[in-house]
Amino acid sequence: MTDRSIHNRKDEHIHITLNEQVQGKGISTGFESYRFEHQALPEISFDSIDTSATFLKKQVKVPFLISSMTGGTPRAHEINRNLASAAEEKGWALGLGSSRVALENKTAAASFQLREEAPTIPIFANIGAVQLNYGYGSEECSQIVRLTGADAIVLHLNSMQEIFQDEGDTDFSGLLLKIAKVADALSVPVGIKEVGFGIASDTCSLLIEAGVQFIDTAGAGGTSWIEVEKYRSQNSIKQRAASAFLDWGLPTAKCVEQLSGLPKPPDCLIASGGITNGVEAAKAIALGADMAGYGRSILPEAVDSKEALLERFEQLELELRISMFGIGAQNLEALKNTDRLISQNA
Ligand SMILES: Cc1cc2nc3c(=O)[nH]c(=O)nc-3n(C[C@H](O)[C@H](O)[C@H](O)COP(=O)(O)O)c2cc1C
Repeated sequence: MTDRSIHNRKDEHIHITLNEQVQGKGISTGFESYRFEHQALPEISFDSIDTSATFLKKQVKVPFLISSMTGGTPRAHEINRNLASAAEEKGWALGLGSSRVALENKTAAASFQLREEAPTIPIFANIGAVQLNYGYGSEECSQIVRLTGADAIVLHLNSMQEIFQDEGDTDFSGLLLKIAKVADALSVPVGIKEVGFGIASDTCSLLIEAGVQFIDTAGAGGTSWIEVEKYRSQNSIKQRAASAFLDWGLPTAKCVEQLSGLPKPPDCLIASGGITNGVEAAKAIALGADMAGYGRSILPEAVDSKEALLERFEQLELELRISMFGIGAQNLEALKNTDRLISQNA
């Protein structure tokens, strides 16, 4: 893969996810199957609701993060600057897009170096786990962490995306052992995320056993990366095959339920994949998640400006706080332990 082609791909991903119908179809996150049972007598003051949390040993004002999206091109740099400065101001955590190109191209590297805009918040770097089969290892992961000033690195599992990508890297064999080696060698925590098809409990247990410290579901019901790659593909057979996979994946709510119920759950469980508002985030936390992540749903504001992002962040935070007020949950511990989340299917 040349720098040039990674460059093109990054801008194409932004363009397609902003302009095309890339939502999975016939599948949803599953949060709509849950309702909070209203508490008419909350017995708390709205102003005293505490949404602060700790992530990667740093304090965040809300249990929210920006899912890994982009970097590597001038347009991506602008987006990352908006994301980083808005996240810093609001006390969110920030996931960087795949930072592989940063090692290969100095100009691209600058778009991942956001500590000036975001000196205090948790930032995690990102690389495809499959790259461990294509010449990358602990040394390159450490370099990415140093270069970005990140507090952690997340390896993404994106098998289905790579298959539908014409230039995809599709050898996913033997990765668990290599992930374990990276987790062992790095001085910062290593996390794992999917990209919109979810992580099941058996896989999660293997990853925790391998030394992975946090897991981000990146479940189904939001962006489908099969759909995104369909729009980029020149291969008409693959394009037609993509239609058979419109409803592929594990819904985000299902992943959170499964993973939080494991005998040994991850130290930190992040719910993401199709989360678009603060009520869904509150439901995710009530189901056992520690943090909630927003991806494509905040991309239009990120492209627009820092101010647009700040407004959107304020709304998402307000929705979380109102949900907590509506069930009388004073803090995230109370939200996590609430018995007022009712499954409609029960
Ligand atoms: C424009 C764009 C670029 C993305 N690039 C990356 C990436 O580089 N690395 C990664 O792990 N995930 C990447 N993702 C996937 C997101 O982190 C997220 O897991 C996925 O889109 C599902 O969440 P959503 O439904 O909230 O969008 C990208 C998403 C978008 C919208």
